[in-house]
Amino acid sequence: MAGYRSVVVLTGAGISAESGLRTFRASDGLWEDHRIEDVATPEGFARNPALVQDFYNQRRRQLASVEPNAAHRALADFERRFDGQFLLVTQNVDDLHERAGSENLLHMHGELRQARCVVTGEIAPQKGDILPESRCRCCGVAGNLRPHIVWFNEMPLYMDTIYDALADCDLFVAIGTSGNVYPAAGFVLEAKQNGAKTILLNLDEVDNASLFDQQIIGPASLKVSEFFGHL
Ligand code: APR
Repeated sequence: MAGYRSVVVLTGAGISAESGLRTFRASDGLWEDHRIEDVATPEGFARNPALVQDFYNQRRRQLASVEPNAAHRALADFERRFDGQFLLVTQNVDDLHERAGSENLLHMHGELRQARCVVTGEIAPQKGDILPESRCRCCGVAGNLRPHIVWFNEMPLYMDTIYDALADCDLFVAIGTSGNVYPAAGFVLEAKQNGAKTILLNLDEVDNASLFDQQIIGPASLKVSEFFGHL
């Protein structure tokens, strides 16, 4: 295990690309077809809830037709084998890490498979579409449910736990993320300041690449098993 005692991994949309889920900023990315301000902000939801629900209903439905790929499985295998501290932080809202067997996993941008009551904040599992007549469990009122997704201008989840783990880790690995969106894009600096080794596994060069000690360029399905398989 190359002597590491505490590993933090951050994943982005790129780790799910080879499972068939679109990323955001590629030429065929989700943000090419939808304006962020229309489908990924509280203001967009207030303006047109049906458009926003449909955007996430379509992405939630797609989960039934995709599978974890070798990169998801390699991370779950490593977590099982590793005898130190391991935390997987994902920006992704799909359920592929869970389905691959990852356990110590935090979805900092929320999850497609959960819905939230806009009145009480209660979170509940959400398998099917959120419809205009869908009722929350807490109030039983139609129209109270929103996707449990962290939108732009909203605070990501589990930040205290994540920063504690970054302060303690001696290896930080970012996989399949363009380093465009903060606070996730700044995690490498937090880890670096605490003396961790920092590695980027990505298909292409990214904006914050120079912050990493090492970059390994290539598809996650190959590079993640290669890297973690020999760790
Ligand atoms: N293997 C490895 N990396 C890949 C692959 C692959 N097969 N395919 C694409 N990538 C890389 C791309 O090169 C890109 O750098 O994955 C990255 C995906 O970047 P984005 O589309 O910007 O996705 P992400 O970084 O996860 O976005 C962060 O932004 O829009 C918000 O909330 C949304 O969580 C998302 C956040």
